[in-house]
Amino acid sequence: MNYDELVKKAVEAKQKAHAPYSNFHVGAALLTEDDKIYSGCNIETASYSLTICAERTAIFKAVSEGERKFKAIAVAGDTDDFISPCGACRQVISDLCGNVDVILINGKNEHKIIKASELLPFAFSDKDLR
Ligand code: THU
Repeated sequence: MNYDELVKKAVEAKQKAHAPYSNFHVGAALLTEDDKIYSGCNIETASYSLTICAERTAIFKAVSEGERKFKAIAVAGDTDDFISPCGACRQVISDLCGNVDVILINGKNEHKIIKASELLPFAFSDKDLR
């Protein structure tokens, strides 16, 4: 699968990051089963812990619009290495998106693809609540 368009959208979303405290800009783009793309950026507030990561912004935007099935999520950072999603986002990706492809993008816009289950093996899920 070619994720060039999704990568482009994640990189574009990074420009919208509101990160005045960390100066760490992140963008994400989420691909639905029927090929719609929802993007998001990280948003920080003066009360630091109320920050939301780019991945969760994109996922919550999509879910709040009624989307439930996803194929992939791309995450872009200005980092030398491929950006590494935080633990909270790993849970949310695994939980709400399933075992999707996760495209990790570095500051040179190079990318690599891994599965959500590689990011979060032995994940807690709805099945554990039954
Ligand atoms: N951040 C993300 O948006 N996604 C990640 O995968 C890692 C971290 C944000 C949260 C915070 O605004 C800033 O990056 C520094 O942690």
